[in-house]
Amino acid sequence: MAEVTFKIYRYKPGAIDPPRYDTFRVDVEAHETVLDILERLRLDDPTLTYRHSCHHGSCGTCGMVVNGKEVLACVTRVLELGTDTVVVEPLHHFPLVSDLVVDMTPFFEKYEPVGMPYIRESEYIPEGQPSEEVGTYVRFESCLECGLCLSACPVVGTDPEYLGPAALAAAARVVQEPRGQDVASVFQMVDTEQGCWRCHAAMECSEVCPNDVDPGGMIMFLRRELLTGKAHSGGKR
Ligand code: SF4
Ligand code: SF4
Ligand code: FES
Repeated sequence: MAEVTFKIYRYKPGAIDPPRYDTFRVDVEAHETVLDILERLRLDDPTLTYRHSCHHGSCGTCGMVVNGKEVLACVTRVLELGTDTVVVEPLHHFPLVSDLVVDMTPFFEKYEPVGMPYIRESEYIPEGQPSEEVGTYVRFESCLECGLCLSACPVVGTDPEYLGPAALAAAARVVQEPRGQDVASVFQMVDTEQGCWRCHAAMECSEVCPNDVDPGGMIMFLRRELLTGKAHSGGKR
């Protein structure tokens, strides 16, 4: 057990505006996570808002910036951070809704057009005839859709048109395992100034990704594929 100071970003349009940091002294036990502490604080202040669902690092909804780094709050143990003061802020580069809650719309606007089928080829059983709804789900199977990579990416912060690490990683998976998707159109989508050529390859996205998607590495894969393809087709893809 140790006493830790929490500084929590607060913002509510019309109520807490401009933003401020609220400070709390909290006794923290070894097993407690940042999300555990937020839930405890919320018992005293029900207006404190944040997102969460699963509590075990699989839904991707509790992304936030803790001590300057993008993390999933539900799997980030407070005492393992090793600081007496813990600063908790919303993800960067997303519209802010309230306190630690951001609007994820820009994430899905970039991500969904890639068209990642949910079912991997290795798991696909044609005679199983999945229901129509399953057929329409699209996601990159390793990606939690948490948005940590977009928050960490300096290019996303300066260029809202940039496709961004998560969508580019999903595009790379379509190239690696198309599962019936139109690979040519995916190449067309990423082979642009705002696609994989916009990345400056400093790999902040891969550093914060909680599920080893390695979006930066996937972007480099796309570039290699494009360059190799062009070399083989006389400059055209
Ligand atoms: S490697 Fe590319 S996508 Fe990843 S953080 Fe850097 S600029 Fe953004
Ligand atoms: S690529 Fe990683 S960091 Fe980015 S949204 Fe997916 S799981 Fe989160
Ligand atoms: S609550 Fe689901 S990943 Fe944190």
